[in-house]
Amino acid sequence: MKYFITGTAGFIGFHLARRLLEAGHQVSGYDGMTPYYDVRLKEARHAALKQFETFEPHIAMLEDRQHLEDAIGTSRPDVIVHLAAQAGVRYSLENPDAYIQSNLIGSWNLLESARKAECKHLLLASTSSVYGANDSIPFRETDRADEPLTIYAATKKSMEAMAHCQSHLHKIPTTVFRFFTVYGPWGRPDMALFKFTKAILENHEIEIYGEGQMSRDFTFIDDLVEGIVRLSAIVPAEANRVHDPAGIDTLSKVAPYRVVNIGGGQPQGLMDFVTVLEEVLGKKTSHKMLPMQKGDVPRTFAAPDLLYALTGYQPDTDLKTGIAAFVEWYRQVQAELVR
Ligand SMILES: NC(=O)c1ccc[n+]([C@@H]2O[C@H](COP(=O)([O-])OP(=O)(O)OC[C@H]3O[C@@H](n4cnc5c(N)ncnc54)[C@H](O)[C@@H]3O)[C@@H](O)[C@H]2O)c1
Repeated sequence: MKYFITGTAGFIGFHLARRLLEAGHQVSGYDGMTPYYDVRLKEARHAALKQFETFEPHIAMLEDRQHLEDAIGTSRPDVIVHLAAQAGVRYSLENPDAYIQSNLIGSWNLLESARKAECKHLLLASTSSVYGANDSIPFRETDRADEPLTIYAATKKSMEAMAHCQSHLHKIPTTVFRFFTVYGPWGRPDMALFKFTKAILENHEIEIYGEGQMSRDFTFIDDLVEGIVRLSAIVPAEANRVHDPAGIDTLSKVAPYRVVNIGGGQPQGLMDFVTVLEEVLGKKTSHKMLPMQKGDVPRTFAAPDLLYALTGYQPDTDLKTGIAAFVEWYRQVQAELVR
């Protein structure tokens, strides 16, 4: 199969591309190497992918419509997976424009390019953040998600809406996945696991928001990739509608379009997360408790039922195993990549 993946120099795109290349597929990767975090980490990920002859990198921005259209047009992919985005909840308070550019304009360019290329399945990365002020748990894909708390969430929800419209008008089979706090080797330096590990090893205090009361449905990267790979084979159609008395399927009545959570439904308290990390590192540091930040949600909690009904799979790696895999990688690259 031929895959076109945006965001291959990023954390999730790198892992997905590597898994597909290892399985013998062809992958065209598209990434603008944005300076949101250390570009050397992005370059190192792409260098690892370039070890495969069947990997074809394109370095350009999503906002460059012509470049994107040409790259997709010449690759002629069977499947497109759109992961490139301005990620991060907190940075969207500082620089909302970056989200409008990458996630709205960039995603629109991607949707138009995918339409022209007539791909057989388009998969798009959204986020648990779209549940915003939703307070019913677990978060079900059928819950209203109309009260975003950040521009990050608002741009992702807008992407979902634009994709539904394109899917309806042009019959583009589209799966949107909502990810829940993904972690693991090659992870992002702006996320808690990376920041806490660095601080603990360098004997700095760690800052814990929400007075340590927040919880997150952490998803280990290999579990996430497994979910994406399985969903890529399930092209939304009436034939695979899930008939469940609870009405869990989001398959649109007017378009080949579906939204699916990829999360294990096992939220963990932030302090438990820190305790496991300290155990794995064999080291503790002091904690500075801070209030919740603007735009933060107290908890995320995925309902994994739809994912399970479609794929027979749900994430299940325990926190200790996942954190240990991250720490092993971190220790290996620390000297080169961690300033
Ligand atoms: N990591 C998580 O916990 C998480 C949770 C929910 C959703 N997501 C979503 O998953 C996707 C992948 O996230 P990630 O953690 O790998 O992030 P990442 O920042 O590591 O990867 C994103 C990649 O996209 C590229 N990019 C950003 N804007 C671009 C643009 N305008 N043009 C071209 N390239 C651009 C960046 O250079 C980067 O390599 C994103 O859409 C993100 O919103 C991630």
